[in-house]
Amino acid sequence: MFSKIVTLAAITLFCHSTVHADYTSYAGYKVYDIKAENPSQQQLLQQLANNEAYDFFTLPRILGLPTRVLVAPADQTEFEATLSSSQIAYKCINENFGATLERERAQNNLQRSLRTKSQRSITFSAYQRMAEIDAYLDELAATYPSRVNLKTIGKSYEGQRLRTITVSNGDGRANKKVILLDAGIHAREWIAPAEALYVIHQLVENFAANAHLLENYDWVILPVVNPDGYEYTHTNTRMWRKTRKPVTSICSGTDGNRNFDFHWGEIGASSFSCSDTFKGQSAFSEPETQTLRDLMFSLSGRAKFYLTLHSYGNYLLYPWGYTSELPSTWHDIDDVAQAGAVAIKKATGTDYTVGSSTNVLYAAAGGSDDYALAKANIPISITMELPAGGNGFNPAPEKIQELVSETWIGIKAMAEKVVTTY
Ligand code: ARG
Ligand code: ZN
Repeated sequence: MFSKIVTLAAITLFCHSTVHADYTSYAGYKVYDIKAENPSQQQLLQQLANNEAYDFFTLPRILGLPTRVLVAPADQTEFEATLSSSQIAYKCINENFGATLERERAQNNLQRSLRTKSQRSITFSAYQRMAEIDAYLDELAATYPSRVNLKTIGKSYEGQRLRTITVSNGDGRANKKVILLDAGIHAREWIAPAEALYVIHQLVENFAANAHLLENYDWVILPVVNPDGYEYTHTNTRMWRKTRKPVTSICSGTDGNRNFDFHWGEIGASSFSCSDTFKGQSAFSEPETQTLRDLMFSLSGRAKFYLTLHSYGNYLLYPWGYTSELPSTWHDIDDVAQAGAVAIKKATGTDYTVGSSTNVLYAAAGGSDDYALAKANIPISITMELPAGGNGFNPAPEKIQELVSETWIGIKAMAEKVVTTY
């Protein structure tokens, strides 16, 4: 009897400690900004990026744009030595990434607790959990039933609902053209779902100012493509990028943006299940990418503009991601992307780099943007990489408001270009 109680207590303790063991603290992890000065240094960085120990937050193609890498304590000496021996200039911009994350977590939780006392389910002073995002969508559907329609279009691997919100102007006209927007295919890019929510907020709650964007178009928005990964970044591993479906006994998760069936796996994607850019066991191996594919096809003919939100790096990217060639219609897409970049530059001075993914960032096949253009026949397909946080990955909570409104200026300008052209 007594020993049973002891066993139970031990189990409870054990369970507690496993919860803790699962939590990645990032204590002592350093963040480096690196500048390659010539093609051979650039090439060395490309090679380092293949080493799973290093987490390259960005790795631009264009010389002179900064490269940012997260390195664990055990790997720092070798990392610095490798750079030094090739005379590559680097700067440690964060001595303890874990401490930054802890500060941001505390601040985020504080903001979220303040919010519950107010009316709405979300604010733009904190990153939201799935439950809050869901509650906000429900609230909008209840408040604006003639202009908002929610639909569960699929389930994640862990069984979370994948929900779209369709925003219309409520005039009852069916089969309008469509702007399709998604975010959060990459779990850790928190500013992207935040932006999707801001777009929803603008279109629904600031309808009068944006009515011209809803005259001949409906907007279909999937704010979180990868909710399993998104929740996991909140509860366990902040820098998790992939889906959560187990692959092998040692590693889980597929890079959703390498999992689409167009030149799948040909370049810039890994066959190693532990890699952050794992292409998946097959194209469309993930329920989340299958759902997004089906959504694209369900809108085919109607969808004119597909915009997928990522972070980070201030880019407006378009196909192709699998080759340095350009689609025959690249000028049309470039016109839309440029409209976004120009509007943001004018409003806040923030610079965006515009171009094809392969030419300005890196080649990576299996992306949703290539698929939207090539297979789902959505003529304007763009990936927007939102800005970074100061010395980390995502902007700190107090920066969200400023960033989501800046980004909206660009999205609005792109949408205006689309609705007046197509
Ligand atoms: N940072 C994004 C990624 O790595 C860029 C995707 C651009 N599109 C592409 N098809 N490669 O997924
Ligand atoms: Zn991304």
